[in-house]
Amino acid sequence: MIALGCDHGGYELMQEVIAHLGERGLEYKNFGTFSKASCDYPEYAKKVAHAVVSGECEKGILICGTGIGISMAANKVPGIRCALCHDCFSAQATREHNDANVLAMGGRIIGAGHALAVVDLFLDTPFSNDERHIRRIKGIEK
Ligand code: RB5
Repeated sequence: MIALGCDHGGYELMQEVIAHLGERGLEYKNFGTFSKASCDYPEYAKKVAHAVVSGECEKGILICGTGIGISMAANKVPGIRCALCHDCFSAQATREHNDANVLAMGGRIIGAGHALAVVDLFLDTPFSNDERHIRRIKGIEK
């Protein structure tokens, strides 16, 4: 189960992500927002972050205008490793090296075609399980 959250700045791109997940047959839980009306991104970041930390959802995807505010808010929740990625290399590397559990993107930054490639790499790339990466991830939480 993938937790989804966005603000008004990410709403349009999130509709593309939702359609893509549906085409892939992947289950998701949408925590909103559900319209283009102006709203506050921390609310949706926290909902998605808590769904991931609680184990209700394995991973999360967050989208605001830039991806910056919504990733900052998500990373305040202990256990969340939210990676702001606008390229495929970062999406793959953050799964392999950081075991990122939430992906953030900016709906005003990245086009849908590129964003969906980033989403696929984030969802499909396993964590390396390398000792050095496990040690560094533990260091984040200390
Ligand atoms: C909303 O206008 C915008 O500030 C928000 O979507 C995001 O970009 C914040 O980081």
